[in-house]
Amino acid sequence: MGERFRKTSDSDLKELIADLNRAYCDEWLAFYAYTYAAQVVSGKGYEDMQEFLEKIAKEELEHQSELADMIVKLGGMPVVNFNELEKNANAPFPMPPKKTDDYDAIIGFVMAAEGGAIEVYRKIAKKTFGKEDVVYQLATHILGEEVNHEEIFENLK
Ligand SMILES: [Fe+2]
Ligand SMILES: [Fe+2]
Repeated sequence: MGERFRKTSDSDLKELIADLNRAYCDEWLAFYAYTYAAQVVSGKGYEDMQEFLEKIAKEELEHQSELADMIVKLGGMPVVNFNELEKNANAPFPMPPKKTDDYDAIIGFVMAAEGGAIEVYRKIAKKTFGKEDVVYQLATHILGEEVNHEEIFENLK
């Protein structure tokens, strides 16, 4: 990324890369959890729930990829070891409910994860506003999609 876009000191940049890496780990965990939940969901009319879960899983994977690109652009490296994803994430693995036909529980598990994600991107957006325009833009773009995910599941209640 060209220096003229960057108004951040080296130590702030390091911290920002760490923030993006934590979000990167969150996105992998969310992608895995939602994909898993979509694969095992059961009960009457489960296909709709499966479709919603697959849709948001796909977008989490896009976020993961967008964050990886940004981390590399800023001179960092995304977390390499799969075993370290949870340790480096903002929140523990969002565990899909055991009861695969309990839609309230599924909605609750998604809403909790999305609520956490919204906080994470809000913080990154706040931190980068007026300083790191390209990162700010990415954070608000992802934030918008996380709000949308929360709304989709809020409306299923
Ligand atoms: Fe996401
Ligand atoms: Fe999301």
